[in-house]
Amino acid sequence: MSVRWQSLIVGLACALAGCGGDASQMRFVENSTLAKPVHRKARAVVKTTLEEHFGTPLSSVAWLKLPVKYGRAEGKITAIEEQTLTVEFNAETADLTGFDAAEFAGTELLLISGANQGKSISLTSFNGTTKTFEMSSSEITPVVGDLFVTGGNVLRHGRKLYARHCQHCHGVSGDGDGPTAKYLNPRPRDYRQGKFKFTSTAGPAGKATRDDLRRIVAQGIPGTYMPAFVPMLKDGELAAIIEYVRWLAMRGEVEWQLLGQFKDEYASDRAKKEAKESGGKESEIEKQIDTQLKEFVKSGLSALVDEVAGDLTDKWTAAEEEGAAIIPEVARVADSPESRKRGKDLFYGKVANCVNCHGLAAKGNGAQTEDVAKNLRTGELYPTPGLFDDWDQPVKPRDLTRGIYRGGRRPIDIYRRITQGIKGTPMPGAPKTIKSDEIWDLVNYVLSIPFESPAPKAAPAHSIAGQSGEKGHAN
Ligand code: HEC
Ligand code: HEC
Repeated sequence: MSVRWQSLIVGLACALAGCGGDASQMRFVENSTLAKPVHRKARAVVKTTLEEHFGTPLSSVAWLKLPVKYGRAEGKITAIEEQTLTVEFNAETADLTGFDAAEFAGTELLLISGANQGKSISLTSFNGTTKTFEMSSSEITPVVGDLFVTGGNVLRHGRKLYARHCQHCHGVSGDGDGPTAKYLNPRPRDYRQGKFKFTSTAGPAGKATRDDLRRIVAQGIPGTYMPAFVPMLKDGELAAIIEYVRWLAMRGEVEWQLLGQFKDEYASDRAKKEAKESGGKESEIEKQIDTQLKEFVKSGLSALVDEVAGDLTDKWTAAEEEGAAIIPEVARVADSPESRKRGKDLFYGKVANCVNCHGLAAKGNGAQTEDVAKNLRTGELYPTPGLFDDWDQPVKPRDLTRGIYRGGRRPIDIYRRITQGIKGTPMPGAPKTIKSDEIWDLVNYVLSIPFESPAPKAAPAHSIAGQSGEKGHAN
């Protein structure tokens, strides 16, 4: 059996009451910052492409190419009695994580063999003990021996929980712009760059792992409005929400990449510009754009979409592989006055230059926070001095005297923050010349700052790097 199914409609069954309210508001919005410079016809192509591969919030599509555990099972019908189908699952494809009876209402069972091949049956429930599905009355009559695929219920479950617990802050589209968001500082994360700040993985491109996301959702982000959801949510619920967050992030990334691809060739002002240069008519050029775009949709779009999806699949998959997480080369250097002293010297020294941002008293107001930074995406200067993150939000270096760590307070968490920096923010990874044992010295020093009394003083003047003009780099 080698039927390759590309995608499965995950259904409409979200009872509106449990789906975050008003159905008219349950739609994915365009990433307007990115879309603005793009020609409206190219924007429409992106919109259609996203709908084809991801559907809408109320009728999601499970695009199986992506590394999302939608909840997937293949198998064979072994008995049929009235509306009850008894089945046998194909072990290696039966991903039954999170499957339970109620979550099955409205999902599809797609027949992939026999006379009804390619048709789907709507289900009302599933019983994991007896391995039986209840069908809703159907025009299709399956027969014993028919092969099927089904699934998507993990995504549905995740969507429902997301709507209830996360959407008012993070938004229907995962754009970090839910109704509550405008009151919050820092703002809820916009997932659509596929970037997360507090990950265990290396490198600027290192994606968050499922465990990273689980830790954030379980424990929250101290010092911000991001709440902790354990014990309220159970393991299976967390797992489903995390798949949904990954799915939203990937949807956002596909949108980001496609708009990025279109923005030069199909700029919103292309006709105007070309008309000016050539003295031609704007309407004629609009027609050419239209023809050119139609041609591209026919001949090049699907390859582009495949490439974008392939690329992000590789990255998200790589994050889960062994060796992706930052593991210290040496065991933790014992916390001692000597180690803290070495850490402190590094903190104030020229090489690590933590002081440049975190400041002489480690309160987060170093020299660099007074400079005007450049927006690396647009190449323009920010309107006000200070640091900004990749979402164009102002960020302050952490006040380290308070002992509140957003990415976790275990020594390994701080170790990871210092070695790799904080993704999407100007906080850089420590230079490679700083060895693993020295990073531990920094960890020991950082963790001791809140208990230093009086507040940390400046190191001797010759080792202060604050005015050196050397900048941390955004990644
Ligand atoms: C009251 C508002 C609020 C709610 C509700 C909320 N969040 Fe957040 N969330 C935030 C804020 C604020 C941040 C950003 C904190 C920061 O930048 O340090 C955030 C950040 C995150 C991040 C990014 C972590 C990283 O490493 O970058 C994830 C993932 C996340 N939230 C998931 C969720 C999920 C899933 C839910 C629902 C179960 C949820 N949030 C509910 C406010 C909220
Ligand atoms: C270019 C500026 C810059 C430099 C240099 C810098 N940081 Fe940071 N640091 C930041 C910013 C900005 C944040 C907050 C980012 C956020 O959460 O959005 C931060 C956050 C932190 C945190 C908090 C982590 C958490 O989980 O909350 C620690 C610890 C930290 N920095 C330590 C260091 C150390 C140690 C060094 C030197 C090796 C250093 N920083 C160098 C800008 C900088």
